[in-house]
Amino acid sequence: MECRLDGQVALVTGASSGLGEAIARLFAGAGAAVVVNYHSGAGRAADLVRRIEEDGGRAVAIGGDVADEAAVERLFDGAVAAFGAVDILVANSGLQKDAPIGSMALSDWQKVIDVNLTGQFLCARAAIRRFRAQGDRGVSRAIGKILCMSSVHETIPWAGHVNYAASKGGVALLMRSLAQEVAGERIRVNGLAPGAIRTPINEKATTGAAEEKLLGLIPYGRVGEPLDVARAALFLASDMADYLVGATLTVDGGMTLYPAFRDNG
Ligand code: BGC
Repeated sequence: MECRLDGQVALVTGASSGLGEAIARLFAGAGAAVVVNYHSGAGRAADLVRRIEEDGGRAVAIGGDVADEAAVERLFDGAVAAFGAVDILVANSGLQKDAPIGSMALSDWQKVIDVNLTGQFLCARAAIRRFRAQGDRGVSRAIGKILCMSSVHETIPWAGHVNYAASKGGVALLMRSLAQEVAGERIRVNGLAPGAIRTPINEKATTGAAEEKLLGLIPYGRVGEPLDVARAALFLASDMADYLVGATLTVDGGMTLYPAFRDNG
């Protein structure tokens, strides 16, 4: 059995770049019709849809801010209008607004919590309502699947990034609590916790001298690629992972293994 998503509709938020883009592409290649949600990257989203279609896949781009309740409703309505259903949600949209605590503006705190945490709540709620309304479409063993994009910073504290770390710590228990709540309906909720991946959010940290320093934190000795995370996402969304419920796959080259203790602490 392979990791396939034939006949299924996957909605990926924040899919115009980075991890979301890689996930959308891989899911389309695995047979899913993909809804490419974007916030500001309309051009990139359209380009991704074109590339997916050139490869023989199906995709549509739909804009909308995941932190805006009405926009999330429109996003799901648009997905159903385009492809008739939603079977998989990848709640991926996320951003960073870094600052030391003394100079972190309330607006920087709020924005990160709104997009990274409240956005996942709104999208997951819409997806679960949708799965319930659809029932069993006969396309997967579960009636619906949700992947919550977290981070190694759901466990690793991160000075200068308290808004981001708090949002991802929140995602971890949002994910597990949701998983507990809806598993009995055959809805699987799981999470992904990437480490340092070569994406736009991480451009500065993954080039030149900063990359050298970063590698000291990664036992496996390389920065991750978006495809590393997309492959884990595909596994989690597919029936190969049918018994994974409330699990987080950490995709980090060992970053969470306390590498500073390698030399006896
Ligand atoms: C952040 C990156 C960071 C990585 C590891 C990710 O969640 O978005 O900026 O490099 O965690 O620290």
